[in-house]
Amino acid sequence: MDIENKAKRVAESKSVMTEMVMPNDANPMGNLMGGNLLRWMDIISSICAGKHCENQVVTVSVDNVAFKKPIHVGDIVTIEAMVTRSFHTSVEVYVEVYAADIKGKKLQEVQSCLLYICCPKYTRGKTRSRARCSTTDR
Ligand SMILES: CC(C)(COP(=O)(O)OP(=O)(O)OC[C@H]1O[C@@H](n2cnc3c(N)ncnc32)[C@H](O)[C@@H]1OP(=O)(O)O)[C@@H](O)C(=O)NCCC(=O)NCCS
Repeated sequence: MDIENKAKRVAESKSVMTEMVMPNDANPMGNLMGGNLLRWMDIISSICAGKHCENQVVTVSVDNVAFKKPIHVGDIVTIEAMVTRSFHTSVEVYVEVYAADIKGKKLQEVQSCLLYICCPKYTRGKTRSRARCSTTDR
């Protein structure tokens, strides 16, 4: 079936990434640098959007992101991304970040929404892969 007429379940593209914060990820104070967390969020969200579109995507926009507490070297960061809406050529991805220490004590949660567009370069000038998003059945 053509992807444009296909309703895809959120679960089909939901993507999860887990990282341990390494010294190379940290700022001079030994905390995870915000830009590195944004990079991980962008990577897993683009994988999620790409799976939904069945195509390569590029980042269009990132909603507000607030870092309320520091995440330290050795902490575990889990990032979950799921499609919340699909438009004509773009896909909205909701991303949640959970930071915990090695014992599992929760330290911080971060949420944001990122928007991706199905990359025209990979669609050979035809449709830009619009799969409908069925959010009722996860
Ligand atoms: C994203 C990009 C292709 C949009 O180009 P454009 O000519 O504005 O495209 P269009 O006007 O046809 O819009 C395409 C879609 O993007 C959406 N869009 C474009 N700019 C947007 C913005 N600033 N915020 C939210 N949505 C936006 C439009 O609503 C449209 O969505 P729809 O087709 O699902 O309805 C172009 O801005 C681009 O190439 N940006 C760089 C992307 C990139 O390289 N990202 C990596 C980080 S540097």
